Amino acid sequence: MIDPISYIEKKREDLRKIKGKAVVAASGGVDSTVCAFLAHSVLPDLTVVFIDDGLMREGEPEAVEALFKKGGMNVLVVNAQKEFFDRLKGITDPEEKRKAFRNTFYTVLGNTLKELHAQYLIQGTIAADIEETKGGIKTQHNVLEQIGVDPHQYGLEIVEPLKDIYKHEVREVGKALELPEDVWNRMPFPGPGLACRVIGEVTPERVDVVRKATRIAEEELSNLNPFQVLAVLLNDKATGNVGGKRVFGSIISVRCVESRDALTASPTEVPWKTLRSVADRILKEVPSVIKVVYDITPKPPSTIEYV
Ligand code: XMP
Repeated sequence: MIDPISYIEKKREDLRKIKGKAVVAASGGVDSTVCAFLAHSVLPDLTVVFIDDGLMREGEPEAVEALFKKGGMNVLVVNAQKEFFDRLKGITDPEEKRKAFRNTFYTVLGNTLKELHAQYLIQGTIAADIEETKGGIKTQHNVLEQIGVDPHQYGLEIVEPLKDIYKHEVREVGKALELPEDVWNRMPFPGPGLACRVIGEVTPERVDVVRKATRIAEEELSNLNPFQVLAVLLNDKATGNVGGKRVFGSIISVRCVESRDALTASPTEVPWKTLRSVADRILKEVPSVIKVVYDITPKPPSTIEYV
């Protein structure tokens, strides 16, 4: 375990060496948020770029913007929802989906950085991202060099202050930076957002279904304090009977896991009553859903996300 105070001091020393226009790419997740606040503590002119990809949870873009503004940072919100959905159209293969997300993300970010004349891009990459990318477990969108994207192509220096620590240590750093608990203790959320939770084609309509189910799953299960809660829209359909009529509706899988570092995970033992209320609410509040299942798979062999 690191000593967060001396870790922060060491990282501040490194960050102070930055002389030039610095931009932090923030998603609102724990890693990039802690990274942004750490960097801002020594780089007051830092610009926070937040790309609204249309794949966030309910109310998230507004909340992220408000958080950074409250922290006294310059925030630039880039609405790129159309670019992301256009690029994701027709793609069903999970790795292709991640690639499409990543390419769009870097095109939008690249253009934004050019407009801002940025010289440094600060990113919240953490140790697990690097290990899993090296291990070929997943193409992580935020490990530039390892995925063959040359940052110099953009005339940029990449700075990854948190790349040597794990999620639980990132939380300690956030706590030591005196960020609010709901920031450092926030549930992880993947870079490609709800695109990781839609099996099959990612369309605005399908994302909307999973967004509503996600809100309900989070509301019902968060008080169990799990590592992560997710709702996933499957690509299959199931038969149901609504108002005496047979219908063929969507299936939502709810996943809730315990983990320390996201490298392994086990399913949360959710009380039956709670599970029933998650299902009842999703069926009632998201009418296109006809079936709700609870996923009891550990990681490995399953990953936490579905894509
Ligand atoms: P998996 O699904 O690989 O996820 O077991 C492990 C943890 O990482 C999150 N995750 C991501 N985080 N960019 C991120 O910043 C990504 O592309 C990404 N994919 C997965 C996931 O939510 C879980 O906490």
